[in-house]
Amino acid sequence: MALPLTTDQPDRSVAPAERTVARNFLLARLGSFLAFFPLGIWTANHLWNQLAAFAGARPWEESVTAHSNPATAALTFTVVMVPLVWHVGWGMVRLAKTRTSTVGNVSNLRYWLQRASAIGLLAFLGAHLWLAWIQPRFVLGRPEPFSDIAREMHHHTPTLIVYILGVLAIAYHLANGLWSFATMGWGIAVSKSAQAWFERLALLVFLVLLAIGWASVYALYRAGA
Ligand code: HEM
Repeated sequence: MALPLTTDQPDRSVAPAERTVARNFLLARLGSFLAFFPLGIWTANHLWNQLAAFAGARPWEESVTAHSNPATAALTFTVVMVPLVWHVGWGMVRLAKTRTSTVGNVSNLRYWLQRASAIGLLAFLGAHLWLAWIQPRFVLGRPEPFSDIAREMHHHTPTLIVYILGVLAIAYHLANGLWSFATMGWGIAVSKSAQAWFERLALLVFLVLLAIGWASVYALYRAGA
């Protein structure tokens, strides 16, 4: 049957069950897409900005906590929090569908690590968002000062450990997510060799994100002495 050329009327030629399948397909793709654009890109940039800690308090505050006007603050909020909340909801549904596999191979391990890092990230992001963003900005009425985070990093061992593990979790989750996004998620890499190339790329992304994140933690730790 010919499909209508205009979309001003609901398309009755598609059975409701198929519409549901199509909607679920799009919702699943959206949870995966938003994890990368803009959330993943923003996260990588956020880690990169932390390197300003090597240059001291002012450069760090200019690079991490300063907003030129309230509009950029609102934009950042929208670009980060909306995709994050969506992705967490999407991720929770997938966590609930996690299945055990008897195949003891590397893919199985990566499947589990992706889920373990998701749970770790959930805890880390809860603490991080409250302590570094919501409490200073909305309860105390000012952004997190460099001196506070640097002091905590140096003198409060649980904070140091949580940041070291949080960076490890995000580096793994994002890098392995890049691989699953390109292969199973969107079918960008289909051939065996393309998948192997994405594996190498994911490993590189993991090492780069880890190096940037851990270097920043070290810079904050050193500054807090
Ligand atoms: C800054 C935070 C986060 C970023 C940047 C991020 C990014 C990603 C990316 C890029 C993927 C791969 C998507 C795909 O395969 O198409 C992914 C997968 C996943 N994420 Fe996240 N994520 C974050 C936080 C979380 C949190 C807090 C949870 C907890 C519920 C979570 C749960 C999951 C799960 C369960 C998967 C695997 C889905 C699957 O393989 O079926 N993520 N994430």
